[in-house]
Amino acid sequence: MCGIVGIVGKSNAERIILNGLERLEYRGYDSAGLYVADRTSDHLVKAQGRIKNLEEKVTSEVTGTIGIGHTRWATHGKPSEMNAHPHTSANQALVLVHNGVIENFEELHQEYLSNHQFEGQTDTEIVVHLIEVLKEQDNSTTKAAFKKALSLIRGSYAFALVEKNDPETIYVAKNKSPLLIGLGDGFNVICSDALAMLDQTTHFVEIEDGEMVTVTADAIEIEDPKGNLVYRESYEAQLDLTDIEKGTYPYYMLKEIDDQPTVMRRLIQEYQGESGEVVIDAALKNELLASDRIYIIACGTSNHAGWAAKSILEKLTQIPVEVHLSSEFGYNMPLLSAKPFFLFLSQSGETADSRQVLVTINQLGLPSLTITNVAGSTLSREANHTLLLHAGPEIAVASTKAYTAQIAVMTLLAKAIGDEKAVPEALDFDVFHELSIVASAMEALVDEKAVISQFAEDFLSDTRNAFYIGRGNDYYVSMEAALKLKEISYIQAEGFAAGELKHGTIALIEEGTPVIGVITEEVTGSHTRGNLKEVESRGAHTLVIVSQELAKATDQIILPNVHPLVTSLVAVVPTQLLAYFATLQRGFDVDKPRNLAKSVTVE
Ligand code: F6R
Repeated sequence: MCGIVGIVGKSNAERIILNGLERLEYRGYDSAGLYVADRTSDHLVKAQGRIKNLEEKVTSEVTGTIGIGHTRWATHGKPSEMNAHPHTSANQALVLVHNGVIENFEELHQEYLSNHQFEGQTDTEIVVHLIEVLKEQDNSTTKAAFKKALSLIRGSYAFALVEKNDPETIYVAKNKSPLLIGLGDGFNVICSDALAMLDQTTHFVEIEDGEMVTVTADAIEIEDPKGNLVYRESYEAQLDLTDIEKGTYPYYMLKEIDDQPTVMRRLIQEYQGESGEVVIDAALKNELLASDRIYIIACGTSNHAGWAAKSILEKLTQIPVEVHLSSEFGYNMPLLSAKPFFLFLSQSGETADSRQVLVTINQLGLPSLTITNVAGSTLSREANHTLLLHAGPEIAVASTKAYTAQIAVMTLLAKAIGDEKAVPEALDFDVFHELSIVASAMEALVDEKAVISQFAEDFLSDTRNAFYIGRGNDYYVSMEAALKLKEISYIQAEGFAAGELKHGTIALIEEGTPVIGVITEEVTGSHTRGNLKEVESRGAHTLVIVSQELAKATDQIILPNVHPLVTSLVAVVPTQLLAYFATLQRGFDVDKPRNLAKSVTVE
């Protein structure tokens, strides 16, 4: 949450910062700001709302050769221009942007800044005032004061600090929030995500928690918390600018829904060995083979992908699987089995709720794997193993292709482990063939946009609430379908176990309430149909999403047949499109729903 960019050593820093902020807008978009300077002038510009509002305020005089910028997702202090970053110290000499949460900001305020006046309500403003106080108190350099402030701060942060009198240096520091340094020819950049600066450089250096970096046009100097200099190799970002462009699509979400067949085929290529085996690192396989239980830890859509993969993993590996919400597991840990294995699912690899669990798991010395879309992300670096989703950047806040890629990667993993254990169901399951059938089925479904848009219009465009129901895997898809619908269309939606409705929730069914049934399992399909009849007789407006082999003439959305283990991968696609079209029809911004951000780096 919140995005930071900065550059030193290039003219028109303001343009580069604005472009970078636009690419980071997925991290938060309630306000934005930038500071640019050169030897003769400096400018601070802030705006409430989207980056385009900031852009409108950046006049031709606002220019410089150094600058920092920020796009905000509010934690402390409401979304307003006053609370937008950058923040300045009392004497206006220091300028700071921050991503994260300072836990002890009230104590710092009381101890060091009780007589200070603040413009807004942010924890960041406290920090920049604190640096100034420490500088004056110790008669020290800005760098020394910044370091001292870091030693007093508790919490998560990525900071970028500029001093007005030294428009040639950016000081940065990080703890638990992402920040990268990008290397240029005669200039250097900083960013929360490499995506932001891909038009400037493809070479990046990672910063570790607790480190502080001095960035000038020609050099970067990394220091560990003890002040020792650290040398770290740069890496080349394997991203292409075209991956992050919308092209002819009106919204990223639609592009990302359409990307799904390609992602399935890419996963086949990435994970298929020469003899048709699934290529998974031997050490990872051995740790899983030695485990007696897999604990999947994830939030939101990733958590739903965990549920969808539970039965695949259990059937193919014969290892029991538990799925947990990261935010609950960390502070309310259940009794663990004798040989637990932890599987973290995270599109971004930065989710703070998941990370706090991983920190504990590492302290306990337990084995872990992160399945993520972002190589080098925090969860990837801190787990023992990583498997990549190869989904390409997911920019829309609502996750689509990462969900299906997560299920597919867990299916590949399950096959690899099941083969090693010679589990009959795994030996009989031709995973690459089945995923290629899934890819074709997804293609057929994304071609049904006109029909699905009409169903969205008929069922969802002006409803206040809606239900998705199903059983088993169809229930897990229903949970994801409901999340997709509610987070972007603001329809109050619930994904419900079809059999549970009659135990209470059916009381909410009124004349016209949309209830969408998902049916891909033969054994439970007739029961779900029975539940649909029960709600219909109470006035519900029902829609059925059903596998072709189980379809009846009156059913509305027909899914091409795929292997019974992987039906979630196709059943979810029409629900993503229903959410997309319902949101458009209701007149909301599909890619940037209110109150949300893509990468949730606060607990
Ligand atoms: C919903 C959505 C979120 C994320 C959740 C976890 O569409 O995207 O629910 O799934 O915030 O994020 P990651 O997967 O990055 O850990």
